Amino acid sequence: MSHSAQPRPMTARRSGALSGVATVPGDKSISHRALILGALSVGETRITGLLEGQDVLDTAKAMAAFGAQVERLGEGEWSVHGVGVGGFGEPEGVIDCGNSGTGVRLIMGAMATTPITATFTGDASLSRRPMARITDPLAQFGAQITAREGGRLPITIKGAADPLPVRYRTPVASAQIKSAILLAGLNVPGETVVIESEPTRDHSERMLAGFGADIRTERTDEGYVITLQGRPELRAQPVAVPRDPSSAAFPVAAALIVPGSEIRVPGVSRNPTRDGLYVTLREMGADIAFENQREEGGEPVADLVVRHGPLKGVTVPADRAASMIDEFPILSVIAAFAEGATVMNGVAELRVKESDRIDAMARGLEANGVQVEETRDSMTVHGMGKVPGGGTAATHLDHRIAMSFLILGLATEAPVSIDDGEPIATSFPDFLPLMQGLGADLD
Ligand code: S3P
Repeated sequence: MSHSAQPRPMTARRSGALSGVATVPGDKSISHRALILGALSVGETRITGLLEGQDVLDTAKAMAAFGAQVERLGEGEWSVHGVGVGGFGEPEGVIDCGNSGTGVRLIMGAMATTPITATFTGDASLSRRPMARITDPLAQFGAQITAREGGRLPITIKGAADPLPVRYRTPVASAQIKSAILLAGLNVPGETVVIESEPTRDHSERMLAGFGADIRTERTDEGYVITLQGRPELRAQPVAVPRDPSSAAFPVAAALIVPGSEIRVPGVSRNPTRDGLYVTLREMGADIAFENQREEGGEPVADLVVRHGPLKGVTVPADRAASMIDEFPILSVIAAFAEGATVMNGVAELRVKESDRIDAMARGLEANGVQVEETRDSMTVHGMGKVPGGGTAATHLDHRIAMSFLILGLATEAPVSIDDGEPIATSFPDFLPLMQGLGADLD
């Protein structure tokens, strides 16, 4: 698919009480990993519940380019016949990862210790994002890397023929850095070690263990130490992808801010490394129940039941940031309707996401009458009883900024517009019909 779709302006209007069941798509992080580990395994990996957003489709295409047989069998149902650890072949063309930081960073890791050469590119947003955080550790394995000025895409990697094991402390809390190193470590003799100060999402570790790798995490004085034994034979596994808590956050937020609402969001992952938003919302006094808690595909899941009610501002501690890193845009919308200020600390990483999310949220909220303060690594939103709305937000090719402002407009006095809803398809292709089905006035 081309990544040059025309901008699609959209508008959200004050809506009546929302109700019904919001069945959100499969988890984006787990979907990428299921395709990549399937491609690095021997045998057939059957995936159900795969997110068919553009980011993940780009990863599926990339896995085929490296030699895996990737087939769509039905809605969310995919088959991957892998080539085994070290079995990637050299792709004929450039690998275009579109908008996806997770896709490009994990795939660069997965190929960096195989003696093949690949060139990676992406859209305007991805081409602005920092990649040295990935290519620096990959160079330590022996990969040769050529990047554009500032370590940006396009990037060409000549994989290491005789890779060396690496012990690496991540300079920022990032599951993408950790995962790229672990995937590179698969094709290296000996132990690859990643050390994190704060735990980040652990889907790679869980899935690697599920596919038969020898991997362990220990909490030591150094931090969280993850050790992977190289050169395992990964065995193909069925993967049932749980529903994405980061996507669930949008209908959940809508129900919290639109008076009279009550919705159910079934089968959402409650992985503790992804749970920070829900912890924070409960501190704000949100009426959220977690029903039918169970385990699916190696991940804890629950059905969320969410009701509108009064909310109060809170301070989100810096050490919670990693567990809700994608949820700060929508939290800042919810915070606009809370009583008092909500302070978000330790969020500098938001500045290097699909957009500078602190800047994008601050400017868009101000355009809709909300007072926001920002520093390099914090954001404060001052809640108000009635949020004026009436503004247009610039979304900067960022799906979560687009969805956040559409949710804002469901409870503001005047409508809220966005300049471009097209990026929503990267993570939540059915966002519009799903929200309309709950009663949201969006077009
Ligand atoms: C992701 C990790 C996070 C997150 C991204 C998905 C992943 O990025 O923002 O949407 O799947 O590993 P960082 O690792 O850069 O924090």
